[in-house]
Amino acid sequence: MNVILLGPPGAGKGTQAEGIVKEYGLVHISTGDMLRAAVKNGTEMGLKAQEYMSKGALVPDEVVVGIVRDRIVEPDCEKGFLLDGFPRTVGQADELDKALKGMGKNIDAVVNIVVEDEELLGRLTGRRICRTCQRPYHVMFKPPATEGACECGGELYQRTDDNVETVKNRLDVYHNQTSPLIEYYSKQGIIVDIDGAKSVNEVFDQINTALKAKV
Ligand code: AP5
Ligand code: MG
Repeated sequence: MNVILLGPPGAGKGTQAEGIVKEYGLVHISTGDMLRAAVKNGTEMGLKAQEYMSKGALVPDEVVVGIVRDRIVEPDCEKGFLLDGFPRTVGQADELDKALKGMGKNIDAVVNIVVEDEELLGRLTGRRICRTCQRPYHVMFKPPATEGACECGGELYQRTDDNVETVKNRLDVYHNQTSPLIEYYSKQGIIVDIDGAKSVNEVFDQINTALKAKV
């Protein structure tokens, strides 16, 4: 099964990805995590990507499409994959469709996590991330057992794009460039809307019910 996780910044894509990949044995492919790793490693692509990410803008389609195309042909993706944060423009979605067609594959479900903007701002400014495993926490909604530390022992940090001004830009970018994908995948009849304002467990239950119907 190949699945796309769609939703605005802070909707809970990373949070829900953890449970979904475990339940369905999928490979988690987060373009945000991959780009942040490139920034951390100081690669040429990372340096270029950082200019866009720090402003909350999208990294150019050709860069991101290239990363995903290279990743989905890896042998582990044969068991199915979960795309988190990709595609984010209609151009990216078209390129993904083309690439999958060439491989004789398709997307089975698009999980669209719906949350209002007011809620997202609080979620993102209070978020902390593990440097080692990228697991997201929240100072109020999901505090770590030990302050400043992840379950895996890694150190927690705040993403540089999780400040009020950049979050507002990211939300604008989502509404202008990414939300058209809801119609795109509705036309394909594979999208399912999830109420992301509920608790983490309740959101997972909704996703699980939707995906169980697809397997
Ligand atoms: P990316 O890393 O993909 O960020 P994003 O889409 O902005 O989404 P987030 O990771 O911020 O949110 P999330 O939905 O994963 O929420 P989370 O589970 O952490 O992209 C970053 C940047 O990279 C982009 O701005 C762009 O520049 C670039 N980029 C990436 N992909 C690209 C692409 N395809 N094309 C071009 N550029 C690209 O949860 C958020 C917080 O809420 C956490 O603290 C969590 O604990 C809490 N929380 C989660 N669920 C709940 C709940 N149900 N109730 C209460 N709190 C909750
Ligand atoms: Mg994320």
